[in-house]
Amino acid sequence: SLAALDDSVPAPNRTQDRSAPVQEPPAGAPFENTPDTDPSLPANRAWGRRILARVAGSALGEDLVKEHTLTDADTLESVVASAVVAGEAWGRRPAAERAEILERAALRLEERRADLLEVMASEAGKPLDQGDPEVSEAIDFARYYAHLARGLDDVDGATFVPSRLTVVTPPWNFPVAIPAGSTLAALAAGSAVVIKPAPQAARCGSVMVEALWEAGVPREVLRLVHVEESDLGRRLVSDPRVDRLILTGAYETAELFRSFRPDLPLLAETSGKNAIVVTPSADFDLAAKDIAASGFGHAGQKCSASSLVILVGSVATSKRFREQLVDAVTSLTVGWPSDPQTQMGPLIEPASGKLLRGLTTLDAGESWLVKPRQLDEAGQLWSPGIRTGVKRGSTTHLTEYFGPVMGIMTAETLEEALEIQNQVDYGLTAGLHALDSAEIAVWLDGVQAGNLYVNRGTTGAIVRRQPFGGWKKSAIGAGTKAGGPHYLFGLGEWAPARSTA
Ligand code: SER
Repeated sequence: SLAALDDSVPAPNRTQDRSAPVQEPPAGAPFENTPDTDPSLPANRAWGRRILARVAGSALGEDLVKEHTLTDADTLESVVASAVVAGEAWGRRPAAERAEILERAALRLEERRADLLEVMASEAGKPLDQGDPEVSEAIDFARYYAHLARGLDDVDGATFVPSRLTVVTPPWNFPVAIPAGSTLAALAAGSAVVIKPAPQAARCGSVMVEALWEAGVPREVLRLVHVEESDLGRRLVSDPRVDRLILTGAYETAELFRSFRPDLPLLAETSGKNAIVVTPSADFDLAAKDIAASGFGHAGQKCSASSLVILVGSVATSKRFREQLVDAVTSLTVGWPSDPQTQMGPLIEPASGKLLRGLTTLDAGESWLVKPRQLDEAGQLWSPGIRTGVKRGSTTHLTEYFGPVMGIMTAETLEEALEIQNQVDYGLTAGLHALDSAEIAVWLDGVQAGNLYVNRGTTGAIVRRQPFGGWKKSAIGAGTKAGGPHYLFGLGEWAPARSTA
């Protein structure tokens, strides 16, 4: 996508006071991205401190999950049966009516921003400043998909026939924006939804769903289930009454779900192993800042994170660049989200398996530019790590750690850097730091990824400006991008308009 270069959309205004009542946009206002909270306003800092006072200290997740009643087999059966019926009626309502409900959902999500931030910090370990853009993104999805839904009724010669029932299985790492985006898209298209939040972020999903119910999304159209047992999960995603499955998660999970029911249309956004290339023409200050943010935001637990940096030509030996990068990374304050100083929060679970190895064990030829340190007993809090001397074909080159580990590779030329970048099986995000327009053109032409970012970090896609979705093993199924103009089309079929004579 070249959307990152599209500056035709005005930048969001950033002057809202969060303690003031939420303002409804005027009727018929064009879509605009929602501003994130501006921490330069003293009122917003006080608002943030009030949220932090409610955030749990160090224990994430588990006790909160236990508050929920897990759905049993009989309940799941009746949820699916009644959702199919409710979906039928929801899909027959004029799209403009569904759009109005979604616009009310946008307002309600804004009104509940503080609750959403609190639960994201307590349950999923997100510092407030990283949860905040997620709430904005959820609101953007509601307004943008409402806007697209209105267009569905207006196509000459064709009728959009929505799915009746869509199952949504979101991940824990964006525990509000991703479940909200998938759910709102399906609702906008005219489908009923059964959502099963990730068990590690069950409460985040529940608060988001509650906000949608409060806004007027009928409870029978939007059903929330909590399923932990794999055979019940399997039953849900292989149920023949389900028309669509929206999954965000590991590539292997998407493959597994597809094997359960190969005929089920799947909209899956899967894993990534993303790299940022830095050429000698780059602005090194900007590159170091963006690399630190893309690698270590939410402790690297983003499919869009960059855990690989490829230094071209003289950058590979530039002492100045290395110092800037080390400074940018080692100055990040690691801690629990309840501490206002925290810039990088915890892992969702103690590091284990490949990630633990990535944080502790070097491969042949590698050394630590920045050695990660375990900061708590359980192994959830780690300072960032950077491995240098990473070889082509190694684990650090090709596989996703999903944590605070980054590898540095070097290339003689931009073409060689592209080869290294494209050797990865995934293709979700990719970054280039270069100010030379010929280099930018070569890179844009050659890189194999869904979302390309030039002189910007690789995380935090913005609805409509940067529709989000991958290529290669980063996507399976319908292939249209979330937050983009065609996403709803994947949630139904086009039939010829019926005419009588
Ligand atoms: N949309 C998120 C991002 O761009 C990832 O899911 O970071």
